[in-house]
Amino acid sequence: MRIAFVGKGGVGKSSLAGTCARLLARSGERVLALDSDPMPGLAFSLGADRVDEGLPDEAVQEYDDDGRRRYRLRDGLTGPDAVERYAVRGPDGVYFLQLGKARGPRWNNARQHFGFQQVLDDLPGEGWSIVGDLPGGTRQPFMTWGRYAEMILVVVEPTPASMLTGRRLARLAAMDGGPRVAAVANKVQEPGDGERVGQRTGLPVLGVIPFDSELVMADRLGRAVLDHDPEGSTAMAVRSLVDALRVGMES
Ligand SMILES: Nc1ncnc2c1ncn2[C@@H]1O[C@H](COP(=O)(O)OP(=O)(O)O)[C@@H](O)[C@H]1O
Ligand SMILES: [Mg+2]
Repeated sequence: MRIAFVGKGGVGKSSLAGTCARLLARSGERVLALDSDPMPGLAFSLGADRVDEGLPDEAVQEYDDDGRRRYRLRDGLTGPDAVERYAVRGPDGVYFLQLGKARGPRWNNARQHFGFQQVLDDLPGEGWSIVGDLPGGTRQPFMTWGRYAEMILVVVEPTPASMLTGRRLARLAAMDGGPRVAAVANKVQEPGDGERVGQRTGLPVLGVIPFDSELVMADRLGRAVLDHDPEGSTAMAVRSLVDALRVGMES
């Protein structure tokens, strides 16, 4: 399956994406976990040991397109090759690829960005699952950044600001006529929270993840919650989310 987590900053995209990627890998899928956020996040929730390496410059070449400078993977390097060579192997065998850290405030990431994009465009639909962690914001998911996704998961906390963001993202997605969109309610503390997220965002809710103090602790320790608390509430709830996704993808 190919999914992308979107939502406001701090709602839990990276935490859920990392956990989800590993659970899919444990069930036998070959999983590529993608961090398109130049700020660190997914490496930690995944428990990968390399934090900020992206595609190296040598993987991408510049070419001239009618006077415009463009980028593509270097001659002879296919998307699957690039994954084999440059993705970090994380726990549970997850392949982990990241855009790489911002190299200064005015860093233009066009080179990495187009390389990254081409890797995804090249990757065959069969045989790979993709779990993406997109940066907070409204543009990226529905423009080029999330175009690999068959399902966009809008992570929403049961707060007015987060639910409003979720609603906007849902509208943008509908405008685009793009992939399917569903919500995941995260940091839920009260029985009605999941339902409220559904009502306020207008999205089907595929997962309800409780507030988990062990996840907060795992983050403090810089560990993946799956390693810190393997049978805790987050692991269980994300497992249910994965099951719901499987059912959702079939229908
Ligand atoms: N279910 C949860 N329960 C408690 N805290 C959570 C939960 N999910 C995420 N968090 C906390 O919220 C913060 C932001 O999570 P993160 O995954 O980095 O969000 P994002 O990637 O959307 O910015 C972290 O401190 C994390 O520990
Ligand atoms: Mg994040």
